[in-house]
Amino acid sequence: MEHVKGSAGGNHTVQTKFILLGFSNLPRQKYLLFSVFLSAYLITLAGNLLIIVLTLADPALHIPMYFFLRNLSFLEICYIPKILANLLSEDQTISFIGCAMQTFFFFFLAGSECFLLASMAYDRYVAICKPLHYSVVMSRKVYTGLAAGSWLSGLLIFFGMTVMVFTLPFCHSHEINHFFCDIPPLLKLACGDTSGKEMAVFIMALFVVTFPFMLILMSYVCIISTILRMPSGEGRSKSFSTYGFACVMYLKPKSSYSPDTDKFLSL
Ligand SMILES: *[C@@H]1O[C@H](CO)[C@@H](O)[C@H](O)[C@H]1NC(C)=O
Repeated sequence: MEHVKGSAGGNHTVQTKFILLGFSNLPRQKYLLFSVFLSAYLITLAGNLLIIVLTLADPALHIPMYFFLRNLSFLEICYIPKILANLLSEDQTISFIGCAMQTFFFFFLAGSECFLLASMAYDRYVAICKPLHYSVVMSRKVYTGLAAGSWLSGLLIFFGMTVMVFTLPFCHSHEINHFFCDIPPLLKLACGDTSGKEMAVFIMALFVVTFPFMLILMSYVCIISTILRMPSGEGRSKSFSTYGFACVMYLKPKSSYSPDTDKFLSL
């Protein structure tokens, strides 16, 4: 930590390091948590690699739905396994810039994932509800554009959000009660009047979660009503199985901030 003269003349502290408390209140469960996390990560990695290889290898899978799926798998592989290292490491400090990078990458990927899921929902909506227009509406230009747009929106929104959070003055404490640099515990550490920025962060988060969620919900409603109107049972079960993706993690309650529940939910 170093002290510098603020422009207003008063002393304020520039944070050069943060401390990630992680699960240090549960030292004995550390290795159990680590192995659970590691297994989950390896299974995800293997599954996603398999999806990428299969959708590239089989020409029958060269359709927009699998293009999106491949893009989603690629995105999920990018989630930095750095969090794994944080869990085990004895050294709990992280540099200011390292913390900002962690926040940015985590939220950039999570945000892009929301938009990508919305694009996938739109793809299935057109395929099931407007089958005759599908090849015209879902042209190569459109689906690659949707994927590129998802990545770009996630990047821009969360770059802005990260800059906003990390330009806050941190003077109370630099101990983050989490295992990675998540935004809510960081906001908790900031001092002075942060209400404007907190509101901005809240509005952006609301947009990123609710906009894709509404799109996904709308496409589900339309798809389900279309399927229920189908005369044959076989057609029905086929359509349902095509749309069997669950995205429970976006339905997790973000309710009032409770550090311990939040840590476990993130994990
Ligand atoms: C994901 O989509 C982008 C934008 O269309 C594309 O450039 C990229 O190659 C895709 N990635 C994969 C792994 O398919």
